[in-house]
Formats: sequence, C-alpha cells, structure tokens
Amino acid sequence: MKVPFVNLRLQHEDIMDKIHLAIDQVFEEDPYVLGPAVARFEKAAAKMLGAPHVVGVNSGTDALLLSLKALGIGPGDEVVLPTFTFMSVAEVIVRLGARPVFVDVDPLTYNMAIDSVTQAVTPKTRAIVAVHMFGYGCDMAQLLQLANAHGIFLIEDVAQAMGARIGNKYLGTMGIAGCFSFYPTKNLGAVGDAGMVVTHNDGVADRLRQLRDHGRAPDGSFPEIGFNSRLDPLQAAILKIKLDELEESIADRVENARFYDSLLAETDLVLPEFFDRGEHTYNYYTIQAEERDALRNFLTEREIGTAVYYPRPLHLEPSMSYLGYKEGDFPVAELLCSRVLSLPVFPGMKRKEVEEVALSIHEFLAMRAAQATQ
Ligand SMILES: Cc1ncc(COP(=O)(O)O)c(C=O)c1O
Repeated sequence: MKVPFVNLRLQHEDIMDKIHLAIDQVFEEDPYVLGPAVARFEKAAAKMLGAPHVVGVNSGTDALLLSLKALGIGPGDEVVLPTFTFMSVAEVIVRLGARPVFVDVDPLTYNMAIDSVTQAVTPKTRAIVAVHMFGYGCDMAQLLQLANAHGIFLIEDVAQAMGARIGNKYLGTMGIAGCFSFYPTKNLGAVGDAGMVVTHNDGVADRLRQLRDHGRAPDGSFPEIGFNSRLDPLQAAILKIKLDELEESIADRVENARFYDSLLAETDLVLPEFFDRGEHTYNYYTIQAEERDALRNFLTEREIGTAVYYPRPLHLEPSMSYLGYKEGDFPVAELLCSRVLSLPVFPGMKRKEVEEVALSIHEFLAMRAAQATQ
C-alpha cells in the first residue's frame, strides 16, 4: 500500500463548498488588499488564541522578519536561536544585519536546550527566538524567566505548533511576538504562502501593521521603510474556514501519533517525547533511527513517504560559514541530523496506513537484526 508523506487534498474534501463560498465573498468585497477577509481572519485567530492583536502577513518568514524589525533589532545585535531548525529563522536575523548565535537542542524534545541558551547570552543579546519544534512547545516558563532576567525579548516561532497549549495558554501568546506560518503542510495550512504575528503589545502591533504595508502610517505618511508583506485575502478567507477545523485535525494527528507510539513501542527507535508541561500537536512525527538512511530507502522502495527535518544543522550550512562555527560545536543537533526521520502523520490518514508504515519499519528492523547475527 502506497502511503504519501502528506495528503493535503484530504484536508479540503469536506469543506470545499464552504471554501468556494468564502472565495466568492472575497470577489464581492472591496478593497481586495487588506480588506474585510483579512480582518475577519485576524479577528477569528485572535479570539481563538485569546490574544489582543493578530497581524496577518505573507509568510512565516516575514512574520519573524517584521517582528525582529518591529523590536528594533539590527546591526550590532545578537539573536539566540536553535541550530536544529529551519533556515528562515537565521536568514531573517542576517537580513536585518544582526548576528545569529546558535544553541544546541534537547535530544528528546528537539527544542532549544535551556543551559545552552543561558551560556549563549551576552551583553549584545537583544532577543531569543524560541522555536517550538515539530508541534511541541519549548519550556516557556524557564525561557521567560531567563529573558526577563536579562531584559531581552522572547520571540516565539510557532510555525510548526499552531494550536498547541501550555496549561491554558496557546503557544505564541507568551512571548513579545508569536510568529506563525501557514505554509500548506503546517497544522493550519493555506493554499500557498501566508503567516501572522500575534502580540499583546499595542506598540509592537502598530509597528507590525505599518511594516507589512511599506512602512505606511495611519495618516498615509511613510515614517519608515517597510515591506510589502500583507496577508492575501484569498488565503485569509480559506484560513478562516480551516481555523474552524483546526482542533479536529490536530486531534487526528494526535490519534495517529498515539497509534505509532503503541505500534513502535517495542523497538529501539527513539519515539517523540513530550512532558506534562504541554500538548504535542505532531506537525511532524519524528523518530530517531541509527540506520536512518537505510530505513528511509527501505520505506521509499515500499512507496512510503518520509522526510528528514533537518539533514544539516544551521551552523554548518554554507551560508552561515562566515560566523565561524565548526563541526562538533553542537553535538546533539549534529547527531540528530544523522538520525531523525519524520513519518506520515497527516490529518485524515487511515489506521491501515499507520499500520502499513509501522509494519514496514518492523520488517526493516527484523531484517537488520537477522543480518547482524549471520
Ligand atoms: C520553524 C519554522 N520557522 C519558520 C518557517 C518559515 O515559514 P514560511 O515557509 O511560511 O516562510 C518554517 C517553515 O516553513 C518553519 O518550519
């Protein structure tokens, strides 16, 4: 049985009529740019998250870029981020002329290791970007304490963890800015690029609104240089419909993950770990396998889709070489890059499909065990 890594079409099958109506409504409404569809989505997202301000932008990358810029981060500043994550976090820091300072991660949750963050803070540090990896939140209590003690900003990257809570608070609502991506494969996915920033700070919200619209102030003047990074109204209309389905689709991901947990429990693979401090939303179900590449090839031959997030830590990417990091600087992240494998866990995935993936993994492990005793 073929099992894709993701099946995005499935997410829309049952809501296509609603989506068509919402799109028709956009055509009826003027202005198209920053019009009512964007306002409706921002209002709905703010209500769900219990946040005073939501600013829709055109991608998760720009959510990060505009947030750092709104906080005044620029040349001479250092920003702490995990080395085991997606490039866009480092990219925006560099684009603003600031310096990315990488830290290692926890080998079980994949989130930034608190002691590593503590060691990375210097008098030049202006912000920490806490990336909530694969759908599970960083230890926000500890990070907030650390940020407050040093008077630095804590920005949350919620690209992979929309809808996850710590206690009764949603991720993205605890730092000065919560940056979300609606890249199609995320927990809440658009049909194209989209993103948003959530903040409880009125001044930051005003600056974000200005920055996403060329730096234009409410009086029509341009007090600063900004960007064209407005959330597209068609994406906003689709996202508003999909927001209503978010809880259900996360429940589906969690159910698939629990099923994998039970089917793979007896193996020596490292399964995704989470602790009482918060919910896991399984944007990715990521395991660790010693023979990751061989396992991946075996699954590919069976037409089972998998992905490697991430094959290289950021500090070893060629575009970051000017920073002077070297192999061995962050041993946990470096090891993880050779071992991690993300399995299909998408909403709407059938139990039979989860079983097929798990069975194939068992077959691979049994084959390897037999070869080892020969
Ligand atoms: C952790 C993380 N941060 C930022 C981004 C960037 O989001 P986007 O692709 O919407 O620009 C992504 C995903 O693509 C991500 O996984």
